[in-house]
Amino acid sequence: TIYLGTFVHCVSLSDLEIGENGAIGVDENGIIRFVEKDTELGHVHEKHPDWNNAEVIHLKGNGFYFPGFIDTHTHAPQHPNTGLFGKTTLLDWLDTYTFPMEASFSDLSRAQTIYSNFVSRTLSHGTTTCAYYATVHVPATNLLADICLQRGQRALVGRVCMNTMSPEYYRDQSIDSAIADSKASIDYIRSIDPTGDIVKPIVTPRFAPSCTSDCLSALGQLAKETEAHIQTHISENKNENALVKELFPDSKSYTDVYDTAGLLTPKTILAHGVHLSQEERQVIKDRGAKISHCPASNTAITSGCAPIREFLDMGLTVGLGTDVSGGFSPSILEECRQAIWTSRFRAMHDGDEAKLSTQEALYLATRGGAAVVGMEDRVGGFEVGKEWDAQMIRLGEVKEGGDREGRFDDGPVDVFGWESAEDRVNKWVYSGDDRNCVAVWVKGRLVHRTARFRD
Ligand code: GUN
Ligand code: FE
Repeated sequence: TIYLGTFVHCVSLSDLEIGENGAIGVDENGIIRFVEKDTELGHVHEKHPDWNNAEVIHLKGNGFYFPGFIDTHTHAPQHPNTGLFGKTTLLDWLDTYTFPMEASFSDLSRAQTIYSNFVSRTLSHGTTTCAYYATVHVPATNLLADICLQRGQRALVGRVCMNTMSPEYYRDQSIDSAIADSKASIDYIRSIDPTGDIVKPIVTPRFAPSCTSDCLSALGQLAKETEAHIQTHISENKNENALVKELFPDSKSYTDVYDTAGLLTPKTILAHGVHLSQEERQVIKDRGAKISHCPASNTAITSGCAPIREFLDMGLTVGLGTDVSGGFSPSILEECRQAIWTSRFRAMHDGDEAKLSTQEALYLATRGGAAVVGMEDRVGGFEVGKEWDAQMIRLGEVKEGGDREGRFDDGPVDVFGWESAEDRVNKWVYSGDDRNCVAVWVKGRLVHRTARFRD
């Protein structure tokens, strides 16, 4: 397939590349074979004669292709709780909203409804890769992996482990059962996608307070034996940090709790990290572990504004996470805005350097996220050899001679025709939504489309 039209992607943290009138050739395995800028179909056919019979998808008008978003941290079973957090902070939020909802996933038909809805939702917002927490239930966790594979969304799917400080009605009964159940889910996910191209398992201790140190070590061992990814939460909230200090008096720090258990590896995704000390940040960097920045959640449950500029300056790998339902949106585009806003709140105290730019937020949403999930060689940008994980963006068009009489089903962004491609990208970042995401591909497969895809 040849994709014609403007394409936009990040080439570095601070630079966007905009290829106007571009052409990207994608083979039957979903691999990008050529990328041309400033061209037209005749030239493409001359230069790549083998492609004369290829299907052509031509994006005209004000739109552009953008790499699929990567959500490095979210909780699929918490989707029904979106927007429900009241005035809680982390620990009472978990007890009030989260544990009762997650416990209900012992019911598989309920899991089917909620998980299939959430995967559709995240795809509709352009998320082509997602690191999911499921629940403690093996059947429902495996079902989430089935749904991702069937819908074609790349996913890391984790069965949540929690053997202490959790309600009697929702917890692992023993370390042995936690490990056996986690292993069962890892084996199942590997059996349905042996290549791991689309779905992969991920070892998921909920967070330090909900696992004993023996359980954390057993999970570290399990991840080592199975060479699996690992995800957990770290230093999200001050009360949580105080609790960790109390529960693990012999540990040097929250980070040390995970390090001692063998849970800090280059395949580890640590969500939040709002209150990490300089020393802890250095340990995380030394181990090669990655950070998932979840700014909407950090504001909603009042955890704080993570020091992302400092993380980037020291060379930590950072991506964005929606953290539904601590976060109130399944959209990584929304998370870009939240990352930019919270960096501005930090800038009000720390100085202007703290501010993230539009380009930087988009980088975290794509290439940064790809590095966090260990897929930077495959996705995150448009280069020969990478895979076609992409979204087609179309913006509203104000036609000469009048408005659209209230019919704004082409989304919230108004383009008048004189804007540069860069202006259009900015308009999209600050006011776009899922209505502007008209088609989504993963590895060359069309996994989501709206009526505007080919109108
Ligand atoms: N810490 C432990 N569990 C959770 C969770 O479900 N969401 C968030 N945001 N933080 C957590
Ligand atoms: Fe979370």
